[in-house]
Amino acid sequence: MSEAEKTRPSDQKYTSMKVFSFEGDDSKSSALRVNIPEVADSAYGMYTWPCAPVLAQYVWKHRLKLQGKVVLEIGSGTALAGVVAAKCGAEVILSDSTLFPDCLENCRKSCHANDLKNVKVIPLTWGLVTLALLQLPAVDFILGSDCFYDTKDFEDVLVTVSFLLKRNPDCQFWTTYQKRSAMRSIEFYLKKWGLAAEEVPVTSFFHKDGMQHCDYPGVDSVHMFDITLDQRNSSCGSVT
Ligand SMILES: C[S@@+](CC[C@H](N)C(=O)[O-])C[C@H]1O[C@@H](n2cnc3c(N)ncnc32)[C@H](O)[C@@H]1O
Repeated sequence: MSEAEKTRPSDQKYTSMKVFSFEGDDSKSSALRVNIPEVADSAYGMYTWPCAPVLAQYVWKHRLKLQGKVVLEIGSGTALAGVVAAKCGAEVILSDSTLFPDCLENCRKSCHANDLKNVKVIPLTWGLVTLALLQLPAVDFILGSDCFYDTKDFEDVLVTVSFLLKRNPDCQFWTTYQKRSAMRSIEFYLKKWGLAAEEVPVTSFFHKDGMQHCDYPGVDSVHMFDITLDQRNSSCGSVT
């Protein structure tokens, strides 16, 4: 990055708007349109990753379950999945790392672009027990799209998730993961933190031909998991 780019004020960065459409069950016409502002920036949370439309489609499919429920999105970035949940009637809290205020601002822009006035945006860094984490209400669903992209963060993500699931044992963590290497796995940390994962076949709910902006090559390597407390092993790895 050149000196000029580094010092360029963020409001002069190239921005664009993506529109994602979600179809109703009984007709081909779109039943929900979501606008997602993106910023041309090297930070990961400034544009929408292939995992996000997949998770958003899953949220859309299960929208009736989410009505009136507390939904926390972690590592929101542009917050597509969280915005869809909010449009479907969930009480949504979006979050991103304390270290990335531009991503938190992007979350606010996504809310604004979709006329969502009651969505909270909070700093929440994976693996840290902060006031923001402790002050959360009981969370019913956690959403995480492409949060397992850097192996150094795998345990931190699951520490935060485990903490929230132990506060509300019925909570579910819906997460999409892009397989970038067969050598990477979260299995060890799932066991360590008392969690169990069930893979949900992406083809059972996601059809990229039906969605605009799903021409990402990476969509085909996205996997979806429903992570819950491992009831057989619930004393393991407790957060105290
Ligand atoms: C690959 S991007 C995915 C963004 C978005 N969920 C999507 O799928 O389009 C990873 C996101 O995690 C956020 N992130 C990275 N490290 C984090 C941390 N330690 N705690 C919380 N969020 C973090 C980044 O700012 C970014 O928004």
